[in-house]
Amino acid sequence: MTARTMTTPTTTATDGKAQQGAIQIATATERRILVVDDEPAIRTMLTVFLSRLGFDVESAPDAESALELLKVGGYFLVITDVGMPGLSGLELLSEIQAITTQMNGHGPDVIIVTGRPGEKVAVEALRRGAYDYFAKPFSFDAMTFTVKRLLERRRLNREAQEYHTLMVRMEAADEHAKQAVRALVEAVYAKDSYTRGHMERVGMIAAKVGRHMGRDERDVELLYRAGTLHDIGKIGTPDAILNKPSSLTPSEWDSIRLHPIVGANILAPISALSDVCTPVRCHHERWDGTGYPDKIGGEDIPELARILAIADVCDALYSDRAYRLGLPETTVREIIVAGKGAHFEPVIVDALLDLCEQGEIFAPLVSARSDRRVGDDELHEPC
Ligand SMILES: [Fe+2]
Repeated sequence: MTARTMTTPTTTATDGKAQQGAIQIATATERRILVVDDEPAIRTMLTVFLSRLGFDVESAPDAESALELLKVGGYFLVITDVGMPGLSGLELLSEIQAITTQMNGHGPDVIIVTGRPGEKVAVEALRRGAYDYFAKPFSFDAMTFTVKRLLERRRLNREAQEYHTLMVRMEAADEHAKQAVRALVEAVYAKDSYTRGHMERVGMIAAKVGRHMGRDERDVELLYRAGTLHDIGKIGTPDAILNKPSSLTPSEWDSIRLHPIVGANILAPISALSDVCTPVRCHHERWDGTGYPDKIGGEDIPELARILAIADVCDALYSDRAYRLGLPETTVREIIVAGKGAHFEPVIVDALLDLCEQGEIFAPLVSARSDRRVGDDELHEPC
C-alpha cells in the first residue's frame, strides 16, 4: 500500500474511569476502539457514545490514518465507514484482515458502518471478514448489543486458546513425566532382570483376560499398560531382596510389600497414567481380603486390579525366578484353581482357564523359562 501523510486524527479518549452504563465485561486489553469515518460529526458521536460505555476511543478521518494508528493502537475493534476519500472501508477491512492473519488471529475485529446501505455492500463486508454491518442511521442499543456480543465471543475464543495452550503444556509435562517413568522402568529392569519380561507378559495376559471377559478396548489398553508398569515400585526395594536366591525373611517381605504403594505414588502425578495407579496399587490384594497393601477384598478391589492379580501370579509361577525355576503349566493351573474364591475372583479364574484351553496363555510365555525344570517342593509365594 502507498504510504500517505497521516491526517492528524481527532482523538477523544476517556480518562479510564468506568462510567455509568459501562460494559463491564471489557478487559484491560479489550478496551480500545478505533472509529474511522470522514464525517467529523459521526466520529464525534460514536466516540462520545462508546466512551460513555467505558471504552478508550480514538478516531481517524480516513483509512490511511487508521492504518498508521493500528500499528501502535492495540485496538480490539475498528468501526469504519465504507465510503471515504482514499482507501474505502472495505479496503481497510482487507488490510486489517491481513494484519490479523500475520498476528495469528490476534488482530482487531471490524464493524462496517455505511450511509449507502445495500445488500451488495453487506455481503461483501461479511465476505471479507467483518464482524457485523450497520446501515446509517443505526440504533445505539443495537451497536451496544453487537459490541457486547463481540466481547463475549472474544472472551470465549481467548478461553479456548488458553485451554489449548494449557493442554499443550500439560501434554509436554506429561511427556517429560512419561520419559521419567520409562527411565524408572529401565532402572527396575537393571535391578532385577526377571522384571523386564515379567511386566510385559503380565500386561499381555491381563489384556487377553480383560478382552475375553468383554471389557472394552479402553480397559484392555489400561490393563496392558498397568501390567507393564505394575512392579515399577520395586525401584524402592533393595537389590539384595529382589535377587535373593532363597526364601525371604519377614522383614524382607515387609520391604517388598511396599512396592504397590511406591509404584502408585510414582504414577499418581502423571495425568496420562493416573488410570493405572489403582490397579498398580491393588495388584497384590486378594479376593478373600488377605492381600496387601490395603487388605481389601471382593468387589472392593477394582476389577482391573483383580484381573491384573491373576495375570501377575500366572506369569510369576510359570517363569523362572531368582529362587526357583518356573513351574509346569499343570501345576500353575492347579495353584490358580486352588485360589479360586480365595486369592482370585472365581469368574476371572474361569476366564483365564478358558484362555489356557485355547492355548492363549502359556505358549507365549515359554521364553521366560530355561530347560531345567523343578518339582513343586521348591515353590513358595511369588512376589
Ligand atoms: Fe508386584
